[in-house]
Amino acid sequence: MVAAKKVTSVALRERKGEKIAAVTAYDVAFARLADRALVDIVLVGDSLGMVVQGLQNTLPVTLDEMIYHCRMVARGVERAHVVADMPFLSYQASLEDGVRAAGRLLKEGVAESVKLEGGAEVAGLVARLSAIGIPVMGHVGMTPQSVHKFGGFKVQGRTDAQAQSILAGARALADAGAYAVVVENVPPALAAEITRAVAIPTIGIGAGPACDGQVLVMHDLLGLDPDWSPRFARRYAELGRDAIAAFAAYVADVRAGKFPSDKETAR
Ligand code: KIV
Repeated sequence: MVAAKKVTSVALRERKGEKIAAVTAYDVAFARLADRALVDIVLVGDSLGMVVQGLQNTLPVTLDEMIYHCRMVARGVERAHVVADMPFLSYQASLEDGVRAAGRLLKEGVAESVKLEGGAEVAGLVARLSAIGIPVMGHVGMTPQSVHKFGGFKVQGRTDAQAQSILAGARALADAGAYAVVVENVPPALAAEITRAVAIPTIGIGAGPACDGQVLVMHDLLGLDPDWSPRFARRYAELGRDAIAAFAAYVADVRAGKFPSDKETAR
């Protein structure tokens, strides 16, 4: 079998105006499945704090946890580009912290690039990382690590001042050398304006169809939570309900003495 052509940050940077499909994954099994489905980017998001660890937000996620999950994901991916989120406080305190954290995500986590949240205030770090060979994906709009500043996971960029600041942030990231930027939970007109304003691909989540690409949290896309998903997500499967039904069928078979059969017993 011919090896699939690897998706690199350089190739992604050149896909401005094309539709890029990104999804999160947190372990080898789902990373492998997403890769087989030809997603372009597998993002090891710090959303794992919420969907894997059951936390209220992403703030407690540690760098060691990100590295642990990223290493698993990287083992399952052959073709897609593997991006690791830099967790809260791994890069905000100093440039040196940021360089070391990003370096560990590549060196120990086997990520191929890192993603960090913020605009102009992180542009210096983005420039430094890009200069030393660590590709960076930016993230603007409703940046979850600022949940307390926003007073919840609320749409950002509704006021003119907010919109201008988000737009300026995206421009600063592109100027600093980011190869793409996630635009999260902003009004679609603002996402369209950002997409027109920057020469790098925008990857939207809850930001409408004008972005160059889209990203979804795997759990939302697969319907792993049977009872909830964000308004902007589309459920492409109902794996949560299917899993409950499968567990229940197994329980029933065990209780009825129907499992295991002869065929399922060691000889
Ligand atoms: O942590 C994450 O999964 C993310 C995506 C939602 C963009 O940042």
